[in-house]
This record gives sequence, C-alpha cells and structure tokens, in this order.
Amino acid sequence: MKFEDIKGFAFDLDGVIADSARLHAKAWHQTADEVHSEWTPELAEALKGVSRMDSLGMILKAGGHENDYTEDEKVALATEKNTKYLKLVESLTPDDVLPGMKAFLDELKASGYKMSVASASKNAPAILKQLKITDYFEGVVDPAKLHAGKPDPEIFSLAAGVMDLAPEVVAGLEDSGAGIKSINAAGELSIGIGNQLMEADVRFADTSEVSLKNIKAKLG
Ligand code: G6P
Ligand code: MG
Repeated sequence: MKFEDIKGFAFDLDGVIADSARLHAKAWHQTADEVHSEWTPELAEALKGVSRMDSLGMILKAGGHENDYTEDEKVALATEKNTKYLKLVESLTPDDVLPGMKAFLDELKASGYKMSVASASKNAPAILKQLKITDYFEGVVDPAKLHAGKPDPEIFSLAAGVMDLAPEVVAGLEDSGAGIKSINAAGELSIGIGNQLMEADVRFADTSEVSLKNIKAKLG
C-alpha cells in the first residue's frame, strides 16, 4: 500500500494506545499461579490479542491442566481475572496513553483521517473513557459479536466498516502477532509495535516512534 492510499487507521488498544497490556499480564500471572501453570515471557507474549476465555485455555494448557476444570470453573477463573484486571484499570488516567500516541491521534484528527478500535477486549470502551479519548474514534468493534478472534481477519475487516472505508485504504496498528496476522488477512497495511513482529509491513520499536512522517518514510 502507498502512503497516499491510507484514509483511516484501525487501532488495537491494549499495548498500542493504552498502557494496559501489563495489567492484563499481571492479572493473568496470578491466574497462572493459582492453577499451577508456569508463567513465562513466551506465554505472556502469546496471550496478547487473545480473548479472555481463549487466554485462560492457553494458560491451563501451558501447565497440562486443560482437562482439570469444568466449564463453570473456567468461567469463574476468567471472571476472577477480569475483576482483578478492572481493579488495576481503575488506576489508569489520561497519562497512561502510551508515549507519542496522544500526539499521533491529534495528528490524524487534524489531517482528516478516520479512526476506529479493533480490540479483543470487552473492556475497551471503559478504557477509552478512562483515558478520555473516546471521541477520536468513529466507533469500536464489539468483540462479543465476532465469529472468530484474531488472527482471523474479521475484527479488522469490521474496523474498516466502522469507518465506512474499504480495507485497501486502511492501516491497522498492533502489538501482537495474532493481530498482525488479522490485519494482513483483512488486506490492510499492518503496522507493528515491537521489532519482533516480523510479519508486519511496517515496524516500530515502540509507540513513541509512530507518526505520519515516520510511516511515510518506512513505506518508501
Ligand atoms: C486484548 C488483550 C488481551 C485480552 C483481550 C480480552 O486483546 O491484548 O490480553 O485478553 O483483549 O480482554 P478482556 O478485557 O475482554 O478480558
Ligand atoms: Mg494489544
């Protein structure tokens, strides 16, 4: 995709706009300890972008415990994690927008780009509100309505639809491997936050580097 083709940006939230990926990880780490699955950096990375119940499934599987809990017990564990996560989220303020991202949102708004949110999190609207940035976006894809989560393209396809744009003119921003796959499969330009995201069309080491000028420079 050429820089000039881009008309809108679809954003993942946790780890791209909000400094909340660490809060998900903190709460899941406690769940992992509780079910006696080892918490490793690899597991933490693999959980990014994955829905709540699928994340729990991966944590149980990591310790070989996938058959040790009933469906009701799994729902209880996931609910417990979410309660802990929401307690941590209460401390988020507008200062917890990741470095450079508020400036980037302002730049996009001033330049007339459309924006939408493509997060697997059911808590995304609450976090946007807490960070006081809800009004930048045309809308937020409701993850409860998805048939399949990331890496399926559905969420990023819907995020283009929210902006009334074709995927061919949309760039998606993601910090997870599953999310980059979803953007690519949707036929959008993938912008990865994190140098490990080898499948991304464009990569930045961290959010502080994200700007229209730098995206243009990387697209060449
Ligand atoms: C995002 C995060 C994941 C989280 C998922 C579901 O994709 O990267 O870590 O598990 O959302 O979030 P929720 O707030 O609905 O449990
Ligand atoms: Mg993320």
